[in-house]
Amino acid sequence: MAGSAVCQVALALFLMFSLAAGAWVGCPGACRCSFAMLQCLEADGITNIPVLAQQESENVTEIYIENQPNLQQIKDTDFINYRELKNLNLASNLLKHISWKVFHSRPLLNLVLRDNPLTCSCGLYWLQQWQMTSRADIDSQQSCWYNGSSVQLDRFMMENCSVPEVSINAPGLPIKEGGNLTFECQVTGNPLPSIRWRTEHLNSTFILERGIWGSTLELVLHLLNVSYVDNLHNLTCEAENEAGPREAKVQLNIEFPANILFLKVPEPQHHWCFPFAVDGNPAPTIKWLYNSMPLVETVYAYTQIIPDLDDGSVYHGCLFLNKPTHFNNGYYTLIVENALGRDEATTFGKFMDNPFDPLDPEGIIPVLTSDPSKSYNIPAPTNQSNEGVTEKRDSSLLGVSVAVGLAAFACTFLLIMVLVINKCGQHSKFGIHQPYVLYAHSHSNILEKSWQGLNYSSQ
Ligand SMILES: *[C@@H]1O[C@H](CO)[C@@H](O)[C@H](O)[C@H]1NC(C)=O
Ligand SMILES: *[C@@H]1O[C@H](CO)[C@@H](O)[C@H](O)[C@H]1NC(C)=O
Ligand SMILES: *[C@@H]1O[C@H](CO)[C@@H](O)[C@H](O)[C@H]1NC(C)=O
Ligand SMILES: *[C@@H]1O[C@H](CO)[C@@H](O)[C@H](O)[C@H]1NC(C)=O
Ligand SMILES: *[C@@H]1O[C@H](CO)[C@@H](O)[C@H](O)[C@H]1NC(C)=O
Ligand SMILES: *[C@@H]1O[C@H](CO)[C@@H](O)[C@H](O)[C@H]1NC(C)=O
Ligand SMILES: *[C@@H]1O[C@H](CO)[C@@H](O)[C@H](O)[C@H]1NC(C)=O
Ligand SMILES: *[C@@H]1O[C@H](CO)[C@@H](O)[C@H](O)[C@H]1NC(C)=O
Repeated sequence: MAGSAVCQVALALFLMFSLAAGAWVGCPGACRCSFAMLQCLEADGITNIPVLAQQESENVTEIYIENQPNLQQIKDTDFINYRELKNLNLASNLLKHISWKVFHSRPLLNLVLRDNPLTCSCGLYWLQQWQMTSRADIDSQQSCWYNGSSVQLDRFMMENCSVPEVSINAPGLPIKEGGNLTFECQVTGNPLPSIRWRTEHLNSTFILERGIWGSTLELVLHLLNVSYVDNLHNLTCEAENEAGPREAKVQLNIEFPANILFLKVPEPQHHWCFPFAVDGNPAPTIKWLYNSMPLVETVYAYTQIIPDLDDGSVYHGCLFLNKPTHFNNGYYTLIVENALGRDEATTFGKFMDNPFDPLDPEGIIPVLTSDPSKSYNIPAPTNQSNEGVTEKRDSSLLGVSVAVGLAAFACTFLLIMVLVINKCGQHSKFGIHQPYVLYAHSHSNILEKSWQGLNYSSQ
């Protein structure tokens, strides 16, 4: 077992290194790029943040870009691919402005911006907030420039600078499919914010209307002929200005008739399952008929809803039958209903052939004590009709399946052992020997720097 673990690690390392070897084609000459780190320390080597290919940047957690007098601005999207970025050092460059958008939703732990000519303005409100709320580790001595002199950022009074406040006026009651709805999004903020409703995933048609009330901006969204598809949709109103973003949400509650999305023929799972999906708001009631008679749910025949996060108002589930026999063959009808409507669907369930030809007198005698034609009218899978069958089948089947299971397990285990021994013999030859391929580097002294870097990234 220990041997196979070593083998797996060696294989994993080998795969990682061989992937890494050809990578980092986007690494600029003045920088060093590795699996977890990007370093541009050579003076005046770059004019903007290096953009690596997406796979090259996705695992980078540390970036050091220092002493770059021509690095004067950062675009909002410059760090978009560095999703795991934790530590960022941008000391001693010539940055004047950095928008909140650059690091919005980046999980930074540490941000160094010292020795940049940052301008004290509302555009640095986010940084002041980060510093005050300790959202990330930021130098307490961080300063900015105001009217020709250096001011400590945490002492600078931001005037006329606030993140927008957003609120939504929404109708209190649910609406029926096909109706009209109006939502008012009201925003205040300084400087004047921009404001929008996120409508790209809305199915209903809509009209927008703008208004201003003193210092309050308003954007009204009229939904016309609302579609049931939008039920439970989170309608979002977003606002932003130099100081930052904010949003408010309201969930749509659209009523529509109960309906069946599908009802399928039964499939053998642990128990037999008739898969179905139904939709409706308010939530529909679910009932079953067996050969047109109400099916009484018991521990042997029961409905179960199987919840899924993405379902919205849809209910997926099964009508489960525990060990049905040919007595349970027949037509199963699903009926769903809510205040706005009703739907039904029927499917046929066939679990077993009747072991006896109904016309064959020999077959009838041992099992049935009455007229065979009547036995087909047993109304539903009831607790009584199934109990005897269940227990008998259980005990005999259990023995067989345990034996088969054990045999299969033994075989698989042997096979895996043989494979593992085989693989280890082959693969342990490479792997640990050449870890320095980890560094693809655009300079010549690959070996030396790479070893340095390896120590770095293993911290
Ligand atoms: C980044 O890490 C993930 C998960 O650890 C891995 O699947 C992926 O291959 C890595 N990407 C690169 C370029 O190494
Ligand atoms: C800016 O600095 C000049 C000279 O140092 C001073 O006269 C002026 O009042 C300052 N302005 C503000 C708004 O502080
Ligand atoms: C802030 O707003 C007030 C009123 O609009 C204005 O008088 C004042 O000059 C503004 N302050 C700054 C620093 O812009
Ligand atoms: C919804 O609005 C449209 C357009 O204003 C109007 O024609 C329609 O009658 C309205 N429907 C309802 C149910 O109020
Ligand atoms: C809206 O929903 C209908 C019915 O599901 C669908 O056919 C249509 O493609 C949807 N339209 C949009 C824009 O999503
Ligand atoms: C409302 O939407 C439904 C379904 O999308 C459509 O069949 C109907 O014609 C629409 N009604 C109006 C008045 O636009
Ligand atoms: C909508 O918002 C509610 C409550 O905030 C949340 O539980 C739900 O998951 C959201 N739905 C979607 C589709 O984002
Ligand atoms: C089946 O079981 C339920 C309770 O689980 C009981 O109420 C019902 O009377 C039983 N039906 C028969 C036919 O025994």
